[in-house]
Amino acid sequence: MRLDPRLAPLVRSRTGLAIADDMLGRAIRQRLRERQESDAETYMARILDDEGEFADLLELLVIPETWFFRDPQAITHAARFAQERHARSGRPVRLLSLPCSTGEEPYTLAMALFDVGLPASAFQVTAVDINEPSLERARRGLYGRNSFRAKDLGFRERYFSAEGDRHRLAESVRAQVRFRQGNILQLGSLRDGALFDVVLCRNLLIYFDDQTQGRALSHLAALLHDDGLLCVGSSEMVSAMRHGFASLGVAQASALVKRQAQVADAVRSPTVAAPPRRKASPRQAPAPRAPAPPRSRALPVDAPAPPAPPPALEQAQRLADAGRGAEAEALLRALLEQDRSQAGAHFLLALILPDERAAEAERALRQALYLEPAHYPALCRLALICERAGRLDEAGRLRERAARIQPAAGDRA
Ligand SMILES: C[S@@+](CC[C@H](N)C(=O)[O-])C[C@H]1O[C@@H](n2cnc3c(N)ncnc32)[C@H](O)[C@@H]1O
Repeated sequence: MRLDPRLAPLVRSRTGLAIADDMLGRAIRQRLRERQESDAETYMARILDDEGEFADLLELLVIPETWFFRDPQAITHAARFAQERHARSGRPVRLLSLPCSTGEEPYTLAMALFDVGLPASAFQVTAVDINEPSLERARRGLYGRNSFRAKDLGFRERYFSAEGDRHRLAESVRAQVRFRQGNILQLGSLRDGALFDVVLCRNLLIYFDDQTQGRALSHLAALLHDDGLLCVGSSEMVSAMRHGFASLGVAQASALVKRQAQVADAVRSPTVAAPPRRKASPRQAPAPRAPAPPRSRALPVDAPAPPAPPPALEQAQRLADAGRGAEAEALLRALLEQDRSQAGAHFLLALILPDERAAEAERALRQALYLEPAHYPALCRLALICERAGRLDEAGRLRERAARIQPAAGDRA
């Protein structure tokens, strides 16, 4: 099958995603099978002006992977920030989850805000994604096994009821989230009245090249209050810092503010007394499925902590987060001289190297992947470098490898 040459540029201009030809070809063949059509040329011509069909094809091209409480430290920080903000201003706090995929992230925010004791009237979550079928699933609020990958599942006891082999989210949580379709590259499709206090943009920027990341981040800046909070994915910190944001240095929260912002101390480290830390236990927890939110309770911050990185690596990450790239590089090189077997150090080195040192970054990523073949962010980053260098086939293979190490999405609602 010969690909219509207009297709890849169309996907790129509409979504920012650089998709390799063989991946696009595979997705088109799958759609043809699903639709029981055989005329590829007619089908491809139709995609160009049929938005519904474009959306269905897009679902096969993007990775809508997500789950509840995916990064508890970021969620905890965002929830405490919102709590503090509400206490100071007395007005409802506005949060944005973009991209929200099938809804797990914005619903997690709503549960976390109930958990720190905010009433329903104190916050509103807006959730945006480009992909309408994902949004439809999100609105249904019915989730299968793959959405519950967090170690601490206390929240499932509190906010869900079982329905066959799936779980239905309580109406009290669903009512806090408004879903809308929008494209991070089209500011007009994202504006929603007032500015936001908190924006979560996690696990999308990594698929964009540097220029597109810049465009996306400038849109996020336009949507966020000057003293608002931005949380990105951990491997997206460096790009956010290249494009107008400054790290708050909160461990594992990937939290940033606008670089020009006057950051109040409260923003740097929310002073609101954290609720007492105790292990959430399904048996201890009441089952607040009624509209009233539960009492303030500990967020599951102490459950799924990833293995602690060695101190020198942590220190290098802090330097990188603070924009002190040269010092971070020197520390990483010293670290690797002593012990070349740390995939995390090779990966961080690749992240902090500027674009003009792409060859060095590529070597570091290959080393990380040699040591840890299933290092997902390293695969995505290397795919991006290959795309920029015009090695699209290789980029496609890397993206497929990355997609394969994500658990199958077969049990989605
Ligand atoms: C990996 S999911 C991230 C979901 C969630 N933020 C998380 O971290 O778990 C990536 C999502 O980005 C969405 N997406 C891709 N391109 C987009 C664009 N240009 N604008 C908005 N959403 C986009 C996809 O539809 C997909 O749902």
